[in-house]
Amino acid sequence: MKLTISFLLFFLSFNSFLLGSALEESLLREAAEKDGYLPAEKVNLPFDSTKSAIGKKLFESSTLSFNSDMNCQTCHLPQFSSGDGLSNAIGTDGAGHGLKRLMSGGQIVPRNTLPLWGRGGLGFKTFFWDGKVEKISEKILSQFGENPPSSDPLITAVHLPFVEIREMIRNDVEIDEEYKTESLESAFTILDDLVKRISKSSLGLELAKAYNKRIEDLQFLDIANSISHHIRDAFSLKQSKFSLFFTKKSNLTDDELEGGLIFYGKGKCSNCHSGSHFSDFKFHNIVLPQFGFGKNGFGIDYGRFNVTKDYNDLYKFRTPPLANVKKTGPYGHSGSMKTLNDVIAGHFDPLRFFNTQKLDPIRRRELFNRIQMTANQPNPAYLTNEEIEKLISFLNTLSFSDS
Ligand code: HEC
Ligand code: HEC
Repeated sequence: MKLTISFLLFFLSFNSFLLGSALEESLLREAAEKDGYLPAEKVNLPFDSTKSAIGKKLFESSTLSFNSDMNCQTCHLPQFSSGDGLSNAIGTDGAGHGLKRLMSGGQIVPRNTLPLWGRGGLGFKTFFWDGKVEKISEKILSQFGENPPSSDPLITAVHLPFVEIREMIRNDVEIDEEYKTESLESAFTILDDLVKRISKSSLGLELAKAYNKRIEDLQFLDIANSISHHIRDAFSLKQSKFSLFFTKKSNLTDDELEGGLIFYGKGKCSNCHSGSHFSDFKFHNIVLPQFGFGKNGFGIDYGRFNVTKDYNDLYKFRTPPLANVKKTGPYGHSGSMKTLNDVIAGHFDPLRFFNTQKLDPIRRRELFNRIQMTANQPNPAYLTNEEIEKLISFLNTLSFSDS
């Protein structure tokens, strides 16, 4: 049966006008189902609304940043669909949002802010562009080593922004001298400080009440736990045009339908953007140009290699989930692609974005290496501009109806 569907999808990509749209509709539903797609209500995990309410306040509270100038919402903003609208995030010493923040001279975090939709939902077990927090057969792999703060990867991930230099801690002399060591101990010193601060504020009282504890018994885990309840609540997956189509409550336009068939068929997008989150949670090398200084400096980001130190993982990044993708640009790990058309084309025709004559020989050699490394992955097919535009129509149906 699977073979028949693949064959039909492939055939349809070229001859869609030959078949009626009722058949196309059922093929698209079937392809999504076989690929593991589930509507939102089956993916979202339960949360506690009292804990989520206090988690929301903590998410928005700058008391919780070392220099009292940042909070989670500084970068995960509603007006940018839980991202920040920038290519690289701007952390401490920045001001304002969007373009204003870009010009404000704040410290640069050399990665594109990830949106938070569906994080912590069913099957969402690998966090960050390089997967530095992941859950593999009941074990948490992260900077915390043998003693992760929680067996829930979302709660473990929520610990990290607080101790990330430039993101929520100013990179200055005090930090250099007292805290910036490689040891876990310095991270915990900072987290303990934050608990003390919160305990002195009215938020501490509320948190203690929500967790049924004495204020002096509060731990950082309670803070991270309540923020995770907030993330599972506020950023849960919601109804989209596609989810309504999938459950037969609504139709798609011809372009959206054909785009969907390309996504699961000829375009091979679902080889990597699969399941309910449109990610296989694996790491692949898409040869997008690097924008900005890069995690490894001088315009380089080694991606997954930074976590595993395995040369086969150089330049690989976690397949990004695609909920609300229309609203979460710029795209890619360094936000180098401004439009969906560019980022899709960058998957199968990356050289259009590089001026190879102008690259210095070392960078050109590096580009050559990156391209060679794509040989063994399930790459997308070549697509015409018309097909890309249909794919974009389909991707736009993954936007939530009410956010
Ligand atoms: C300076 C901007 C900034 C601030 C402040 C910030 N984030 Fe982020 N967030 C980012 C960036 C950039 C990434 C991607 C980093 C990476 O993958 O290397 C990210 C990624 C994440 C992820 C991983 C999402 C995924 O798809 O794996 C979570 C969860 C998250 N942030 C939660 C938070 C929480 C909770 C706070 C507050 C404690 C916070 N962030 C504060 C910029 C920020
Ligand atoms: C081989 C696996 C793979 C295939 C196949 C694939 N992608 Fe991707 N996609 C990725 C990875 C990995 C990234 C992130 C690359 C980076 O940041 O360097 C990405 C990035 C994206 C983004 C940007 C999302 C964001 O939030 O930044 C979009 C949109 C996208 N892909 C759509 C598609 C479409 C449409 C197709 C089919 C034509 C496709 N992809 C095929 C792995 C894949």
